[in-house]
Amino acid sequence: MTTPKKLFIKTYGCQMNVYDSERMAEALGGQGYVETQTPDDADMILLNTCHIREKAAEKIYSELGRYKGLKADKPDLKIGVAGCVAQAEGQEIMRRQPMVDLVVGPQSYHRLPEMEAKTRAGEKALDTDFPEEDKFEKLKSRPKAQRGPTAFLTVQEGCDKFCAFCVVPYTRGAEVSRPVDRILTEARDLVERGVREITLLGQNVNAYHGAGPDGSEYTLAKLIWDLDKVDGLERIRFTTSHPNDMTDDLIEAHGTCSKLMPYLHLPVQSGSDRILKRMNRSHTADSYLRLIERIRAARPDILMSGDFIVGFPEETEEDFQATLDLVEEVNYGYAYSFKYSTRPGTPAAERPQVDPAQADDRLQRLQALITRQQRDIQNSMVGRTVSVLFEKPGRLPGQMGGKSEYLHAVHVADAPVSVGEIAQVRIVDAAANSLAGVID
Ligand code: 5AD
Ligand code: SF4
Repeated sequence: MTTPKKLFIKTYGCQMNVYDSERMAEALGGQGYVETQTPDDADMILLNTCHIREKAAEKIYSELGRYKGLKADKPDLKIGVAGCVAQAEGQEIMRRQPMVDLVVGPQSYHRLPEMEAKTRAGEKALDTDFPEEDKFEKLKSRPKAQRGPTAFLTVQEGCDKFCAFCVVPYTRGAEVSRPVDRILTEARDLVERGVREITLLGQNVNAYHGAGPDGSEYTLAKLIWDLDKVDGLERIRFTTSHPNDMTDDLIEAHGTCSKLMPYLHLPVQSGSDRILKRMNRSHTADSYLRLIERIRAARPDILMSGDFIVGFPEETEEDFQATLDLVEEVNYGYAYSFKYSTRPGTPAAERPQVDPAQADDRLQRLQALITRQQRDIQNSMVGRTVSVLFEKPGRLPGQMGGKSEYLHAVHVADAPVSVGEIAQVRIVDAAANSLAGVID
């Protein structure tokens, strides 16, 4: 028997990259690779990269620099770059870091086995195509290994919205939805392997429009209702959504589908109509607020989450104030805020930039407000009973940790439950990033 080769994958960025990394590990599993948790004993290092902000991309080059010594000690070590930096920079990566053997874009990673063989033959391998064939189908040979209770499942990829700041339409390409039957097969397979909660992934997941078994076009809500019928699947989530694709049936499903969790990540980016227009968002602050009213009418306890960019080109103090006002009005359970980062090739890169010190100051003010809201909502959970899916033992003996339906991390001391179980938990305390509870 030959000893397996070791693969170290480091994942950056969004949840879709986490999913893609799993698929890449499986694809290379067929080439005799098993995963290792450290680069030190690896035969192949794969960085699955993110290009969304400049810092994320720069991190890759500094990380690659760190592997120079390893490669010098072990000339057989292969180094690959996958994901959105690979897509955006292509050959340039090998030029800047000649020790890189393989560059593979997010749409071509089903070709990894052939690419790996090429590197073993001493050649460089580069593939940043947007091929016709279905990469998910090519990657079907999954080992039936047991899984944890939660999993991601990509149902849609790419984006046609072209927000003026965003590289996604260029790195992930045009919107593509996977057919319903393939998603259901994958979901059932995950459930057989122990999964209780599935998060449906897509850059624009609520624009999902895959083909149903009868050839008709499905909406995301229709797909959710089919998943609702999968026995053993207890919870469904989806991310990330665009306000303009929140269809009536999806809003309604939040009120009527008991497996659909009361949590919605719905980025708005700014509260100023002037800036939203320049961002090419095709919605206003008011239409977003009215949409949230409708969602809350369907599911009053839904926890809202969002993304914000501060310091977008030409943002004034008044524009920023409008963002603070919107945040005040929505009251977010979670929100992610970023300083605008210039992305070459996107329309906003050409616009007059905001003074970086001013952008820093706004980011701090926005984050202070968001943190206060998050804390207040966490604190308001004390005394309430939530349902918790237990994911893993906690740090203390006997302790178990999981997530509530609202995605809050919850810990229970001396919990008489096992991983994968769902139990009703009464919240007794709120810390900065988690809640403590007792089984009800
Ligand atoms: N600069 C800063 N933040 C960005 N995002 C996307 N592109 C940029 C950029 N150029 C943020 C948006 C998006 C999240 C995933 O990343 O808020 O919703
Ligand atoms: Fe980027 Fe999202 Fe806008 Fe698409 S909708 S361009 S992924 S921010």
